[in-house]
Amino acid sequence: MEYTAIKLVKRPEIAITPDLFEVVRLETPPLEDGQFLIKQTHMSLDPAMKGWMMPDRDSYIPPVELGDVMRSGGIGEIVDSKNSGFPIGARVQGLTGWTEYLVSNGQGMNLVPEGIPSEAVLCVLALPGMTAYQGLMNVGKPKAGETIVVSAAAGSVGSMVGQIAKAEGLNVIGTAGTDEKCQWLVDDLGFDAAINYKSESLQAELAAAAPNGVDLYFENTGGVVQHAVFELMNAHGRIMVCGMISDYNTLTPSAGPNWVPIIKKRLTIQGFTMPDHYDKIPGMIQAMSKYLMEGKIKYRAHSLDGLESAIDGINLLFTGGNTGKLMVKL
Ligand SMILES: NC(=O)c1ccc[n+]([C@@H]2O[C@H](COP(=O)([O-])OP(=O)(O)OC[C@H]3O[C@@H](n4cnc5c(N)ncnc54)[C@H](OP(=O)(O)O)[C@@H]3O)[C@@H](O)[C@H]2O)c1
Repeated sequence: MEYTAIKLVKRPEIAITPDLFEVVRLETPPLEDGQFLIKQTHMSLDPAMKGWMMPDRDSYIPPVELGDVMRSGGIGEIVDSKNSGFPIGARVQGLTGWTEYLVSNGQGMNLVPEGIPSEAVLCVLALPGMTAYQGLMNVGKPKAGETIVVSAAAGSVGSMVGQIAKAEGLNVIGTAGTDEKCQWLVDDLGFDAAINYKSESLQAELAAAAPNGVDLYFENTGGVVQHAVFELMNAHGRIMVCGMISDYNTLTPSAGPNWVPIIKKRLTIQGFTMPDHYDKIPGMIQAMSKYLMEGKIKYRAHSLDGLESAIDGINLLFTGGNTGKLMVKL
């Protein structure tokens, strides 16, 4: 059967542009014993993809090789199988790639339990929820009553972090790039405050929302929010460095804050990446499922249509055009 896939054929200079990709038509191969054929239905688009396109071999994961199908996570349905553990009709989740179909032997693929919508899996029980839980609970170790600021709070990771923090009894402040996103954080997700980081009075608004200072900062962006929150950190505060999206499309990284307050305030600043913590995923899925069932976690998916929509659509992550977890429906 013929299907469409998208290969990475050029590395980005700064932004992700259509000439980095080649759309190809491929033929599904005959299955060998132990293999099964997946029709991808939901493909995740993530800011990390920019890093995977770059030649940097000094990162937590090797780059996508030129000429290879672009890497992604996703969910699909098994449409043919020579593996009894992965029967026809079952849904699987794992590294799929920018492709309509793929053949797998099961390595790195997990069956999706029946009854959970695929959007919920990609928004809550996959990378965003796992990253949020790992960063907040295992790195940040929050205590009820503490104040947390989350940047890119209306995004897929940030919205999970804020809601877990609320469920754990924290005072939660989010920053986001539009007033609509800020309103959604407060009205729908129950954040205590949300501030548009493009406001000229960001520092003053943050200080007003955190009269007792900030104990935890979940860093998704870098840039202006980082500087404003750093000023407000309390003694023994913790900064969980998850992402720095404001630097992903720049040639020169922005300057960080001065380090003297790290000593004076005895701050802990820790970076983390999800691939280091795959062993904790079963426990984290259980914890996130519990929040979900208790109605403590809401999610919104921002779906694009058709594989080729990924080529331009991925840039919504860098313009702030995505409202919710960005994904492609195929
Ligand atoms: N460490 C890990 O293992 C791990 C795993 C997953 C994700 N991450 C990181 O987590 C962060 C969020 O990822 P996500 O998947 O949840 O994406 P997302 O938040 O759903 O989408 C990205 C958001 O970033 C904001 N943004 C873009 N450019 C910005 C800029 N220059 N300054 C401030 N905000 C900007 C935009 O929201 P606004 O409209 O609010 O500007 C955009 O909607 C990223 O930095 C990503 O790399 C890390």
